[in-house]
Amino acid sequence: MSFKKEKKERIENYILELIKNGNHEDVKQKTIYACDISPTTYYRYLKNLKDKNLIKEDKNNRYVLADVRKELFCYKNKGLYEHEIYENDIDQFIKTLPKNIQNIWYYAFTEIMNNAIEHSSANEIHVLVAETPLDIIIVISDEGIGIFNNIKSFIEETTGEEISLEDAMRQLFKGKFTTKSENHAGEGIFFTSRIMDLFMIASSGLFFSHDNYKDLEAKISDIVPNSTLLKKGTSVMMQLSKNSNKETRTIFNQFTTPDEGFFRTEIKLKNFCEHGYPVSRSQARRIFDGMNLFKEVTIDFEGVSDLGQAFCHEIFVVFQNKFPDIQIKAINANENVQGMISRIINTEKLLKKKVKN
Ligand SMILES: Nc1ncnc2c1ncn2[C@@H]1O[C@H](COP(=O)(O)OP(=O)(O)O)[C@@H](O)[C@H]1O
Ligand SMILES: [Mg+2]
Repeated sequence: MSFKKEKKERIENYILELIKNGNHEDVKQKTIYACDISPTTYYRYLKNLKDKNLIKEDKNNRYVLADVRKELFCYKNKGLYEHEIYENDIDQFIKTLPKNIQNIWYYAFTEIMNNAIEHSSANEIHVLVAETPLDIIIVISDEGIGIFNNIKSFIEETTGEEISLEDAMRQLFKGKFTTKSENHAGEGIFFTSRIMDLFMIASSGLFFSHDNYKDLEAKISDIVPNSTLLKKGTSVMMQLSKNSNKETRTIFNQFTTPDEGFFRTEIKLKNFCEHGYPVSRSQARRIFDGMNLFKEVTIDFEGVSDLGQAFCHEIFVVFQNKFPDIQIKAINANENVQGMISRIINTEKLLKKKVKN
């Protein structure tokens, strides 16, 4: 590629990335400054991108990325095989992309499609594939029983305890959660949600996502315009950059080994308590329910301002005494949190020493 052409592509990509990230006000200033071009040249680039149908104006007259290609597939949920659907309908959007991206999409699509086929009890499943100049977006929707509802009913039936839809949703952050343990392992959502650039599940008016997007609903209804789908059943939206250098093995290596399998998990405590101050024993029990399936549990305390003594004791003493071989690690703990954990652990050590003497 000639130097001039390369420079042109770089500037175009720079503008596209800014537009994708929604910095509408800054696009012009940032591009002029970073790419060292005049305002006239900037407008010429903008016009070019518009002429090539790579960007379009939304209803507020702001530029957004255009869909290069968009297609909706509808399937009757009878005798479906996720790998066949991938090969017949989805692969055409992915097969020209680099191998690492093809591998990620094959894994993600087949996991989430299998969930719709086997867990939703829906009669129909819809798959929307959209290609923008920078990303591939896939939305898999079913009008079935609803994922969070399904999890809630299962927990209530097996434990006899009532739980909220939010608590049901939070089970998905942990990994190894499944309502069909005979032939499922509870890994699909855990790994797929971590490998995508953007992953969210909309169901029963709630959103599951690792990131706190304020505009989740807007984002999904932008992609699925007539989003009655959000009222019933489950919609899973996945987005990955066409230039991504992620690899499936990177994410698997973080949590699995060939010998021990899926032995490690990590939870962001902030996702389990809205106010950033977990206090009660019952809260801790609910969060740590099922954690004995792992050998190592990392708790990420980012965004947690303080810890209640009972909450902390339930995890670092009660759970730890019950499962002494499980390693519990704390990361991103502030002074308050670290102080509480150390106090609880040291008090317990003293008590044990006294009992021994
Ligand atoms: N489309 C869906 N409709 C209803 N429930 C779902 C759906 N997708 C997932 N689930 C629920 O979420 C759980 C976790 O899914 P996943 O992580 O893929 O694990 P697995 O499929 O191995 O159980 C499932 O066991 C099921 O209870
Ligand atoms: Mg699954």
